[in-house]
Amino acid sequence: MSDVLLVEKLDGHIATLTINRPDKLNALNGAVRCALIGALDQLARDDDVRVVILTGAGEKAFIAGADISEFKDARPVEQYRSMQTGNIYQAVESFPKPVIAMINGFCLGGGCELAMACDMRVAATTAKIGQPEVNLGLIPGGGGTQRLPRLVGEGWAMRLIMSAEMISGVKAADIGLVETAVAPEELEAHTLELARNIGGRSPIALQAAKESILAARRMPLDEGLKFERGWFSLLFSTDDMAEGVGAFLEKRKAEFRGS
Ligand code: COA
Repeated sequence: MSDVLLVEKLDGHIATLTINRPDKLNALNGAVRCALIGALDQLARDDDVRVVILTGAGEKAFIAGADISEFKDARPVEQYRSMQTGNIYQAVESFPKPVIAMINGFCLGGGCELAMACDMRVAATTAKIGQPEVNLGLIPGGGGTQRLPRLVGEGWAMRLIMSAEMISGVKAADIGLVETAVAPEELEAHTLELARNIGGRSPIALQAAKESILAARRMPLDEGLKFERGWFSLLFSTDDMAEGVGAFLEKRKAEFRGS
């Protein structure tokens, strides 16, 4: 295990991924990106894990963005290549299980973009969230110009990206950038409760739900509805569907095995 990324497995089919560079506000450098992609690859194949929580070490930051010190000598072609091969945003979005961002402090630039690539976001009310790349003469490069307007609408996306302002967790919940903002001392318990809830569901149904919801971004409605029907029908072949329906009819709790 890498020391810049802590991987922990918890009861309830939960794994946590903690970016561990608190002295640099968990800024995303090459080592973190590499460790994150490796860990996601392993967790994707670990049947015991059904839901992942992504967070940052320490009280101060979720992730304060890409590591700016790596920008200084970067050349365009190398930058382009590293964004293709080490695309953590794509790796999180295409991960076949639900990923919850637990946002505990500064969530800036690539941090905000990584949170948006997750499937759900829970923030501390005190979190400070924003896309400050214009301060560096840049724009978001991890999907911010594409995912932010989808979440909050074009006006707020324009404002956040162009003004570089930081908003609180409360405001972020208000505009739909995160689903929930809770008091900092309740952040972990609230997120774990959500993860436990999701971890108790059928993993195949969770994957089908994630793929179908994400398909809506790239498909016209009629194709998306067809895609959904395809998954819905396929699930009739699973033991989990037989278990879920059987458990309902027998008035007992379903025990999903993911097969
Ligand atoms: N990349 C590299 N290092 C970073 C970083 C980043 N994105 N964000 C913070 N750090 C480092 C600081 O350089 C500092 O390191 P040092 O102690 O070795 O000097 C350490 O983290 C603590 O940050 P500091 O700036 O001292 O904390 P602060 O509370 O005064 O300010 C921020 C916090 C988040 C406002 C400030 O660090 C900041 O603006 N960071 C950059 C945010 C950004 O632009 N992100 C988008 C990048 S594309």
